[in-house]
Amino acid sequence: MNRLFLLNVLFCIAYEIPAQLIVQPRLSVTAQLGESVTLQCSISRTQHSTFTWFKQVIGQPPVYMLKYDGKSKPIFLDEFNDKSHFKMQNIQSSFNLTILKAENPDMAVYYCAALSGSHVLFGNGTTLLIKGKLKVN
Ligand SMILES: *[C@@H]1O[C@H](CO)[C@@H](O)[C@H](O)[C@H]1NC(C)=O
Ligand SMILES: *[C@@H]1O[C@H](CO)[C@@H](O)[C@H](O)[C@H]1NC(C)=O
Repeated sequence: MNRLFLLNVLFCIAYEIPAQLIVQPRLSVTAQLGESVTLQCSISRTQHSTFTWFKQVIGQPPVYMLKYDGKSKPIFLDEFNDKSHFKMQNIQSSFNLTILKAENPDMAVYYCAALSGSHVLFGNGTTLLIKGKLKVN
């Protein structure tokens, strides 16, 4: 065990490895077009002040969907502020995001993240696939 290794271990203990904190148990989930789908996330330590979800369509930058301080209601931003389409449930350390009536534009990778001071810690992400007939006009 050399000194660099030890430093690395200490660094990881001090800053906590994101993957250990934020668990998105499913790498991908397939939803039926028009049905509801729940994306699971749990955050193992809850002293982080803000919990968030990001949506990333392949080939585009991630977009900030919602933030939740663990106390009041979650705040859905911009186009995500649509109660008929998005819902977040928090029980203890879990922060599941439900998409109601899934549509093709919902196909994306969804990241659960915690904002803690100047750190942003991300989960591994869950890819949402939508299965069903496309309307061809
Ligand atoms: C994230 O993905 C890596 C690589 O597949 C895996 O080793 C790790 O356990 C995953 N982390 C969590 C928190 O699920
Ligand atoms: C999130 O989903 C998991 C798995 O279905 C469930 O065990 C957990 O209770 C859910 N959490 C909330 C807050 O609904």
